[in-house]
Amino acid sequence: MNWGSIDRYAKSLIKEAGHKIRVSFFSTIDIDSKADANDLVTNIDRDIERFFISRIKRDFPEHRIFGEEGFGDEIDTLDGVIWMLDPIDGTMNFIHQKRNFAISLGIYLDGIGMLGYIYDVMNDDFYHAAKDEGAYYNDERLATLENTPLEEAIIGVNASWVAPNRRIEHMPIAEMVHKCRGTRSYGSAAMELAYVASGRIDAYLSLRLSPWDIAGGMIIAREVGAIATNMKGEAPHLLGQDTFIVAKPGLHDEILKNHILLK
Ligand code: IPD
Ligand code: CA
Ligand code: CA
Ligand code: CA
Repeated sequence: MNWGSIDRYAKSLIKEAGHKIRVSFFSTIDIDSKADANDLVTNIDRDIERFFISRIKRDFPEHRIFGEEGFGDEIDTLDGVIWMLDPIDGTMNFIHQKRNFAISLGIYLDGIGMLGYIYDVMNDDFYHAAKDEGAYYNDERLATLENTPLEEAIIGVNASWVAPNRRIEHMPIAEMVHKCRGTRSYGSAAMELAYVASGRIDAYLSLRLSPWDIAGGMIIAREVGAIATNMKGEAPHLLGQDTFIVAKPGLHDEILKNHILLK
């Protein structure tokens, strides 16, 4: 497998898709809801996923695609090459803010992350990494992360956790929020992963993410020494939904041991 040429191909495909998304703001965007009224999807999410799939199927017919909008393959094993794609991560931001969303893509070989990409479309900011070759923010190599104590950390959390939530009621999350320097909530898991990898925030937690939300970002995060696991400290599930935490190494430990307590 020529990973260098797959890397160049994927980067140009993502840039082309980003251009299509920016142009889409000049046309009418149709909005639907999926699981509930606030779980939004648009014709652009679907069009962009179909665009990726038609290109990948044409040029790499033996590769499989696992995409959020369901136009790819039925994936129940991690065998072979799988492109894990979220055509727009942060659809609510895409609709309401016209910014703060990303294309997220991770390319895996037999379950091992080989190439990872997060493209912040409106800022034209590209986070990318290849296994064992380091991670980059545009052309700038990202530094290995140094540990930050909780007292000095900025943590990406979901602000809806201030409302009663049976899944966190036994976790001392409020204590973590109280102890840390500050919290942020950006509304795009992929961007929050990119922000951890580039040192803009120090950790990010979520109670439920899908493989395409984290597939690209985990590869980027790993290259700078961030630790990404589920809330039990295991490798996140890449075939279905799971809890998720990514953080600088010592901080990951501290949050998991003192504030999550999921066995
Ligand atoms: C969502 C975003 C959001 C996260 C949700 C995801 P989508 O992805 O990443 O930040 O909290 O769990 O589903 O639906 O906008 O691609
Ligand atoms: Ca969605
Ligand atoms: Ca997503
Ligand atoms: Ca999406």
